[in-house]
Amino acid sequence: MSSITTRHFLQSAGILLAGLVLAACGKQEPPAPAASAPAPAASAPAPAAKVYLVGTDAAYAPFESQNEKGEIVGFDIEVVQAVAQKAGIEVKFVNTPWEGIFNTLNQGDRDLLVSAITITAERKQTMDFSTPYFDAQQLIAVKKDSKISKFNDLKKLKVGVQNGTTGDEVVAKLQGKDSANIKRFESTPLALKELEAGGVDAVVADNGVVVHYVNNNSGANFKTVSDASFVAEQYGLAVKKGNTELQEKLNKGLADIKTDGTYDKIYTKYFGSPAAPAPAVAASK
Ligand code: ARG
Repeated sequence: MSSITTRHFLQSAGILLAGLVLAACGKQEPPAPAASAPAPAASAPAPAAKVYLVGTDAAYAPFESQNEKGEIVGFDIEVVQAVAQKAGIEVKFVNTPWEGIFNTLNQGDRDLLVSAITITAERKQTMDFSTPYFDAQQLIAVKKDSKISKFNDLKKLKVGVQNGTTGDEVVAKLQGKDSANIKRFESTPLALKELEAGGVDAVVADNGVVVHYVNNNSGANFKTVSDASFVAEQYGLAVKKGNTELQEKLNKGLADIKTDGTYDKIYTKYFGSPAAPAPAVAASK
């Protein structure tokens, strides 16, 4: 009896001792970083992490839109969230109308923009872009019974575009900037609604958005018309001209999510072929 008790005591003491040693070791570690390790934030009195405000025109599904709860969601949003995580920065999305969205960078109201923004030579003069993160091009939406078969057919017709987009630019080139037949809307969904109502003969906008709308609004009776004259476009994240610090963080984050498969995962979630037999495998294809 007593020998068992003794053994139990010794075992318990041993465990206790081991525990104390571990605890002691563990306790010794925390002071070390503050004292000797290179802790960048250690000297700042109250290092409140900067929250980067991200402007987005959230009327552009599937890239950015508002769900029933009013939350901003979409492909662009998930890409920026993943990039921010890699870059170690905190972001907050702010719904920002397309009209004037670029001015918010200069005014300092937004730190970056994600809005399916095509990188163009003209825009590059007033803002800086990340490396491209998405390929796009223009696409025409028309009613199913329309005879329109190519972009040139729109020369004398009423065309709806979102004001100040690359869609606006291509139609302005075709018809002339001041053509009365170009109907400019605040948002792309408004232009598409007008097509549904018969107020315009066609809408020209980014392919991803047009395809998404056509697929999700079968009642609208739309079809799409592509044209070889539409040039390749690439989306980038926009920052204030000269903000290379943030630009580099974003580029690094984008590179990281492309290498570790996060980008492909997000891409597949939004654009992956539903016919793919096994999404996990298809993503790496
Ligand atoms: N890619 C086009 C452009 O840059 C259209 C972008 C519109 N985006 C939006 N969220 N409304 O001009």
